[in-house]
Amino acid sequence: MKGYYIERNLSGMNELPATLKSDVPDPKPGKGEVLVDVHTAGFNYFDVLQVQGLYQHKPPFPYVAGAEFSGTISPSSPIPAGAPSWLRPGARVFGAGQGSYAEKIKVPFHTLVPVPEGMKMEEAAGLYVTYPTSYAALVYRANIQPGEYLLIHAAAGGVGLAALQIGKALGAKVIAACSTQAKLDVCLRYGADYAINYAEGAKGDWQKKVMEITKGHGADVVYDPVGMIVPSLKCIAWNGRLIVVGFAGGNIEKIPANLILLKNVAVTGVHWGAYSKNEIKKVPETWEALLKLFAEKRIKGVVYDKVFEGLESVPEGLRALGARETWGKAVVRVSKESAKL
Ligand SMILES: NC(=O)c1ccc[n+]([C@@H]2O[C@H](COP(=O)([O-])OP(=O)(O)OC[C@H]3O[C@@H](n4cnc5c(N)ncnc54)[C@H](OP(=O)(O)O)[C@@H]3O)[C@@H](O)[C@H]2O)c1
Repeated sequence: MKGYYIERNLSGMNELPATLKSDVPDPKPGKGEVLVDVHTAGFNYFDVLQVQGLYQHKPPFPYVAGAEFSGTISPSSPIPAGAPSWLRPGARVFGAGQGSYAEKIKVPFHTLVPVPEGMKMEEAAGLYVTYPTSYAALVYRANIQPGEYLLIHAAAGGVGLAALQIGKALGAKVIAACSTQAKLDVCLRYGADYAINYAEGAKGDWQKKVMEITKGHGADVVYDPVGMIVPSLKCIAWNGRLIVVGFAGGNIEKIPANLILLKNVAVTGVHWGAYSKNEIKKVPETWEALLKLFAEKRIKGVVYDKVFEGLESVPEGLRALGARETWGKAVVRVSKESAKL
């Protein structure tokens, strides 16, 4: 099969095109696993880090890159004992595993989620990591309440736009922060109550804007996938909660403990991928809540304007994501069938 094979760590995005291979061995499903024909794969920031050898999960070489996908259960897939009745060859599914930038991927059957009726494969391909991360962050870690001010950094990004919509669905007043006017417009289009530019050189001081918007109260919850906890302490409310989601800015902050005490706030982290190991019952609970929100049309998957076409365009997608050009979920259509499903 065709796959985006990584044989050594790449030092930069310019090297990426060399690694698409057409003779990657088909994955062989093991016990409890199924084979999925990939239709669309999602781009995540951690994919960019992984191909450069900078991510915590380092598969042995050679490996196929990519994690998120939507697809159909392959006609040749085994159907393990205990699989639900809907899980049959041809069933539309989404999920994540190692190696989604390929024509086929194998995954444990119990990790798959059925694509909701009427949802396009492109939309489904970008849901598996971002939406539960943002739900777990806001509900389990911050216990967000209706009417609270929620400040979201990188709000037009993958996890950011998921947090924005989930926050709105839970009744929060959302302040979206990002780096360009185009991204601010995207956030407003998807329901943000306020949008502010936090880029260096943007007019005015963004923390001051948060204090003005909240009439001196400050943000009750800060959702941070960038690494902006310390500057956010300037505009946090009494009893506020700050959620460490990621470090897209490249810097892991050291947080002065005295500020946490003085502001009477809590700094908490979220590691969605580890729920399946440490708190497995939260996984189906989270998907049940999210699928209900999708069915009620209170949230939806947001696909970046440009859908990348074919595995050949994986390097371009990764480059665009790494260069902060994309918003929402950037995805690559692996199979031409995808547009029809
Ligand atoms: N904790 C978890 O369980 C979990 C799960 C999924 C993802 N994450 C993490 O969350 C972060 C965001 O992931 P994502 O998939 O949403 O990524 P994404 O769609 O690429 O969004 C990241 C955004 O971060 C902002 N950013 C700020 N400084 C940046 C820099 N120096 N380089 C690149 N981007 C920068 C950019 O928005 P602006 O241009 O508006 O600043 C960019 O669009 C990543 O660190 C990822 O590893 C964590």
